[in-house]
Amino acid sequence: VVTLRGAAPRLRDALADPAVLPSGVVAARDGILVFVGDRQEFERRVTLLPRAIVLDARGGTVLPGFVDPHTHLPFAGWREGEFVARLSGATYESIASRGGGIRATVQATRRATEDELSGLVLERLDALLLHGTTTVEAKSGYGLTLEDELKQLRALRAAAERHAVTVVPTLLGAHVVPAEAREDRDAYVRLVCEEMIPAAARQGLARFCDVFVDAGAFTLAEAERILLAARASGLGLRVHAEQRQAGGAASLAARFHAASADHLEHLDQDAALALARAGTAAVLLPGAAFFLSSPHDAPARRLVEAGAAVALATDFNPGTCPAFAMGTILNLACLRYGLVPAEAIAAATINAAHVLGLAATIGSLEIGKQADLQIAAVPNHLHLAYRFGSNQTLTVVKRGRVVVENGRLTPAAAGK
Ligand code: NIG
Ligand code: FE
Repeated sequence: VVTLRGAAPRLRDALADPAVLPSGVVAARDGILVFVGDRQEFERRVTLLPRAIVLDARGGTVLPGFVDPHTHLPFAGWREGEFVARLSGATYESIASRGGGIRATVQATRRATEDELSGLVLERLDALLLHGTTTVEAKSGYGLTLEDELKQLRALRAAAERHAVTVVPTLLGAHVVPAEAREDRDAYVRLVCEEMIPAAARQGLARFCDVFVDAGAFTLAEAERILLAARASGLGLRVHAEQRQAGGAASLAARFHAASADHLEHLDQDAALALARAGTAAVLLPGAAFFLSSPHDAPARRLVEAGAAVALATDFNPGTCPAFAMGTILNLACLRYGLVPAEAIAAATINAAHVLGLAATIGSLEIGKQADLQIAAVPNHLHLAYRFGSNQTLTVVKRGRVVVENGRLTPAAAGK
């Protein structure tokens, strides 16, 4: 049993300590963990109720459900043509400048109804759960009008109400400036600050606000206005930072004590220290760096050494990471970013929960926390990162209910 118990987030050396119980037993009642310990202690101290469900891990590995703290779930339309174009030399930027990229997904998402989008989200929540993810953050950002951004967030809420996976919604109205607003960027930034953010916050449709700082997206000055408005509306702050070029976005996130700065492929040493000092987590997305064949890797080791809270996410989206398997991300985090398996697992569970402000209730197996856990068909935690390309998750428990059994969804997956 990989417990990951102890102080959260896990920093520096603690990141590599998975706190494993070699012969562990976990017990829950009414969805909350009431025992985590070894077998002998379990036999002395725990009496099962007559209606208790007993799961035998059969020599497998029990760990917390994955927490995926950065995805772009509610989109319509895929972009497989761009994948092929990139293989013959087109770049992400050249595709975007021809109207592809994010703007192509915006067109498809605007055409989709709220019901269609929530159906797509439901399918994706099923897939996430089958791969061991029990909590996911999900961003809008493919609507880029007040109504289409709120439509994406409402679709998320509607799907979340009919699914076991916990969904933490984020407004990403500041993803790019939509094509029709290019002549008046300032009006679009005002729309985000004065209408989208207050509406999403007032209607309880978002917990965080994110902004993409990039040459093709928003400037530091624009991002600052957006973060100020988000803070004033009571939303938590996230920043897509230093993905395509260095530009000071991580330092901006640190200055705002944002919950996280995400991507960080071009992060410099000073900004790594600034994140650590500010308590702004570094959410690393090696799936996106891999999928874009980027030669730039986020400096994961330097972030750990600087004392930053390092978390991992898929960045699931149609352009830069059309994959939702956290197992694949663990593998890439080790092979590309130099984390060891235990560090990657902590980054995808307890530290990811910390990013979302949920470390008190999920992310580790400790008494009093939610019984969100998975059984992987591997003999120890190292295999989770070592055996790439296959789904190791056999069984998933969400709030004490078995939602995946022998690799299949149960009826409980469709409810809270
Ligand atoms: O996180 N960086 C910006 N946004 C997404 C990509 C979105 C897309 O290409 O559709 C990301 O990588
Ligand atoms: Fe992203």
